[in-house]
Amino acid sequence: MTKRVAIFISGGGSNMVSLAESMTGDHPARPCLVITNVPGAGGLEKARSMGIPTAVVDHRPFKGDRVAFEEELARVVDAAEPDILCLAGFMRVLTEGFVGRYTGRMLNIHPSLLPKYRGLHTHARALEAGDAEHGCTVHEVTPVLDDGPILGQARVPVLEGDTPELLAARVLVQEHRLYPAVLRRFAEGDRTPVLLS
Ligand code: GAR
Repeated sequence: MTKRVAIFISGGGSNMVSLAESMTGDHPARPCLVITNVPGAGGLEKARSMGIPTAVVDHRPFKGDRVAFEEELARVVDAAEPDILCLAGFMRVLTEGFVGRYTGRMLNIHPSLLPKYRGLHTHARALEAGDAEHGCTVHEVTPVLDDGPILGQARVPVLEGDTPELLAARVLVQEHRLYPAVLRRFAEGDRTPVLLS
């Protein structure tokens, strides 16, 4: 049976677009919802133009009450009945309670070669460390931030004269290849990591 995919965004949603565009033809999944915590997120309009249902659950009125925010988030997500949840540039840390509702069904893309550089500013940190290569990772979400079983990685060489912005742009190109490849495999029930270079 076709799997239903909810995609979580906070910004431009370029990964969301690459995921949504991949779910056509004989793909075993289809997007059922794009949800954001940011009312003006650029990705919202893109999702609407692709005909995908959208929802906004703004975290700000909850004034730091993560549990209340996540209860509302879960209510809206569950109404869309997703089988798989893809975090795609969703910039809120989720609590154990929320993650636990969707164990084994939630994926995230992170712009580093995990376990290196969990958290923010990954490109600057890779440059500061003098790394020869950098990249991105798709992993299953567990309660520990940017942790969980790795489902795919794509590598990018660090070039002479790279800035965080230049490196981020090249990593993003790889993100758009990696996430759809992992989602397809995952939706087929195969957790063998996808390794791209
Ligand atoms: C992507 O680079 C993604 O890996 C990163 O945010 C960007 C979102 O771009 N995610 C994180 O840093 C999560 N910790 P997009 O909105 O264009 O897909």
